[in-house]
Amino acid sequence: MFPLRRNRRLRASHAVRSLVQETSISPNDFIVPLFVVEGSGVKEEIPSMPDYYRFSLDLLKDEVQLLWIMGLKSVLLFVKVHDHLKDNAGTEALNPNGLMQRAIKTVKDVAPDMYVMTDVALDPFSSYGHDGIVKDHQIINDETCDVLAKMAISHAQAGADMVAPSDMMDGRILYIREALEEEGYKNTGIMSYSAKYASAFYGPFRDALDSAPGFGDKKTYQMDPANRSEAIRETLMDIDEGADIVMVKPGLCYLDIVRDLKNEVEVPISVYQVSGEYAMLKAAAEKGWLDHDAVMMEQITAIKRAGADLIASYFAKDVVRLLD
Ligand code: PBG
Repeated sequence: MFPLRRNRRLRASHAVRSLVQETSISPNDFIVPLFVVEGSGVKEEIPSMPDYYRFSLDLLKDEVQLLWIMGLKSVLLFVKVHDHLKDNAGTEALNPNGLMQRAIKTVKDVAPDMYVMTDVALDPFSSYGHDGIVKDHQIINDETCDVLAKMAISHAQAGADMVAPSDMMDGRILYIREALEEEGYKNTGIMSYSAKYASAFYGPFRDALDSAPGFGDKKTYQMDPANRSEAIRETLMDIDEGADIVMVKPGLCYLDIVRDLKNEVEVPISVYQVSGEYAMLKAAAEKGWLDHDAVMMEQITAIKRAGADLIASYFAKDVVRLLD
């Protein structure tokens, strides 16, 4: 007999395809990264990230309101601070009236139920553009953890719901968790960038924040793209140390890691589809070489199919508009 099973039966119409679809996308899947700058009336496009902007606090309000109305319920805040405020220890990061602290309050003012996550790392505040304190051209671990823990507390005090350490120092999740507990921030969560690779895909982000490393690279703390089991080890340690959500970053090139972790761990996994991934698609679409919306949806679907429970993506608004 000719095949009893014809797989094309389940592909024959839109209706049946929808019925058997295994992965679906909704606004609940997204964390929206936002770039904040000083000033007023500022909405400046990031040259290497078409249609993505840095906002001053007044215009951040409008943006956050829009996101909330669109059903996007979580933001991840990054700040670009003036050069004269940068030093080796990232002192400005602890300023209770610093840009990050004001940004957190601004978001909570306009959308009290918006889930606010904050970047915890020294690079936007570091005169060296590194994620940690520099001594003799080395990024020193434990002293950095101490500052990161203080930074996390400062964000919690300002109203952050979850802190997101993106620095890859050893032991920082435990440091931060213990500090939060001691200060009474028991419900402040930690989303750890647990498997963060030393990737060339971060270029546009460093343009956005003017945070490129002043010397060397980040390979002594971020992971080697060639490694796979190391990602599991890093992530299991972060979970032991108290991470509520773990992350793989970047996205598309690292989906094997996402699936490895999905099979291994019991906490939500987020994936950061990073600036370079965004830039590549925007550029190809501008040239008319790729269908922007179709490729975007295919990529987001692939990230989710691989095992992402959450996706930090610059495409979040574009995707939600398309879903409507
Ligand atoms: C820095 C940080 C980076 C990103 C998020 N946090 C860049 C880096 O590690 O140099 C990259 C995000 C992106 O490329 O979209 N702590």
